[in-house]
Amino acid sequence: MLRALLSGLGWRKGIWGCAFSSWQPHQPPVGLLSATEVVSHWTAVFEEKGIPEARESSEYIVAHVLGAKTFQSLRPGLWTQPLTPWQLQCIQELGSYRLQRMPVQYILGEWDFQGLNLKMAPPVFIPRPETEELVEWVLEEVTQGPRVVGAESSPLILEVGCGSGAISLSLLSRLPQSRVIAVDKGEAAICLTHENAQRLQLQDRIQIVPFDVTSVESWAHLLSWGPVDLVVSNPPYVFHRDMEKLAPEILRYEDPVALDGGEEGMDIITHILALAPQLLKDSGSIFLEVDPRHPELVGSWLQSQPDLSLNLVAMRRDFCGSKDTEAPVGQMCAQDGTSGHGH
Ligand SMILES: C[S@@+](CC[C@H](N)C(=O)[O-])C[C@H]1O[C@@H](n2cnc3c(N)ncnc32)[C@H](O)[C@@H]1O
Repeated sequence: MLRALLSGLGWRKGIWGCAFSSWQPHQPPVGLLSATEVVSHWTAVFEEKGIPEARESSEYIVAHVLGAKTFQSLRPGLWTQPLTPWQLQCIQELGSYRLQRMPVQYILGEWDFQGLNLKMAPPVFIPRPETEELVEWVLEEVTQGPRVVGAESSPLILEVGCGSGAISLSLLSRLPQSRVIAVDKGEAAICLTHENAQRLQLQDRIQIVPFDVTSVESWAHLLSWGPVDLVVSNPPYVFHRDMEKLAPEILRYEDPVALDGGEEGMDIITHILALAPQLLKDSGSIFLEVDPRHPELVGSWLQSQPDLSLNLVAMRRDFCGSKDTEAPVGQMCAQDGTSGHGH
């Protein structure tokens, strides 16, 4: 089975060092300032400079400097308590990154995905809220049993393009008997997935492998970990012509290799589909995050590749978290339609 889903953008958490420096523009007026006043000050600065999600950005930065995840989760006493000069300076530093359109996730150095706190670092792709839907879909299908994912209640999963490890690690945390092979061609992504696996104490059930899915000769290497029940991927799927329309936050800071899917966004998708039948067990499934235009394109492509014996069996459209400036998100699912195709 094959599934696909495309994601949009969502903001959240990172940690950058703060150092005192001389006065800089956008500093709030001198005096005893509370967290609430500083949030208002930076919200106004961000709004004036046209920074998206001005209030959210301001609240996340102030909360982070005060040691909380969100402004709302701060002890109420801290909302009105005067900030120290050091705290104000940290906020100044982090606010200046946001003025350069750095995503909040990179500024804070961490972000939550599926309830897991992950380290974030540029240029590794920031996991989007839509991808949480893909994870939920996989989990639904796994818990429904053999209908979709074969006889395994604790499947062996291959993730192609693991980025920060968000998908693999959230699946592992929800499927305590499962194991994952997580591959990515980016060195920074491989390192960050290692770090996040350690951070979450999930390193014993994940194999993290540098791997380029377009490099046919190295596929056999993956088989040494055994045939898999599921392939999951949020591949680069942006149509090349749409790349220039992406927000400055994405274009300036995220790796274009994580986004650009070629002329019709299909370059990596087709490689995954071609690879999957060689690695999947009988009736194994492929779950992909894709652009809403992709299911039709994938359907046509699969018809032209009858040897692959993959059937597109389900599709979902998801607008969660999509913003006006971003493409809406689609999902789809396909399945290995062969019998006697096993390993
Ligand atoms: C859209 S990001 C998804 C990252 C992560 N799975 C997530 O959802 O947050 C796509 C990932 O695919 C990786 N990638 C791009 N081309 C690849 C290729 N040819 N082989 C393996 N990984 C690739 C990128 O480095 C990037 O980490």
